[in-house]
Amino acid sequence: MAPRVFRIAPSILSADFARLGEEVTAVLAAGADMIHFDVMDNHYVPNLTVGPLVCEAVRPLTKSTIDVHLMVKPVDRIVPDFARAGADIISFHPEASEHVDRTIELIHASGCKAGLALNPATPLSCLDHVLHKLDLVLVMSVNPGFGGQKFIPHVLDKLREARARIDRAGRPISLEVDGGVNAENIASVARAGADTFVAGSAIFGAKDYRTVISKMRQELGTVG
Ligand code: DX5
Ligand code: ZN
Repeated sequence: MAPRVFRIAPSILSADFARLGEEVTAVLAAGADMIHFDVMDNHYVPNLTVGPLVCEAVRPLTKSTIDVHLMVKPVDRIVPDFARAGADIISFHPEASEHVDRTIELIHASGCKAGLALNPATPLSCLDHVLHKLDLVLVMSVNPGFGGQKFIPHVLDKLREARARIDRAGRPISLEVDGGVNAENIASVARAGADTFVAGSAIFGAKDYRTVISKMRQELGTVG
């Protein structure tokens, strides 16, 4: 099997929104691989963030992947808007869509890669009949809605199981972990099978983005 490529995806949720463009540019210049874009609607989750207009504003700043994490219900209406706004990957939660397979199809038809986001209590069986269509599985390691929460350790077992399912699927599917990831736990999270690491507060809360991202990469370098 080819060695896993690790990707670090800072979540702009913890960025300084008054200087969002500069923050995006700075974090990518500091070595981040992509931008994780958390969309919350104060309905599916108890918080409200940004929509397609902000994605469109950020798009010209980078050629790197914009990884849109939709925490909105319903999902389908807003998918083409994010595709037009320049999203590369769009993930959604199965509980937020009446027809999960249809939403995946819609994301693909809109020209984006599709991900399914699983809350800590959402079983992996949600992947049963759709994994073959997905480009990414996003395993939440906190309950969605806020940055700065603590990583739920039990999720490590879930990641191991998700990795086994993905390996059995035999096609390239990213395994992304989101919530409470930092330089201290990133290696154990990688050992459990994740390849894409969302980190909000751990990166944007640091004084120097390059230092924290380098530390994360150094930790990832210890994972065989
Ligand atoms: C939570 C979001 C996460 C979160 C990550 O609902 O999906 O992306 O902002 O932030 P940290 O790394 O601070 O947990
Ligand atoms: Zn997220």
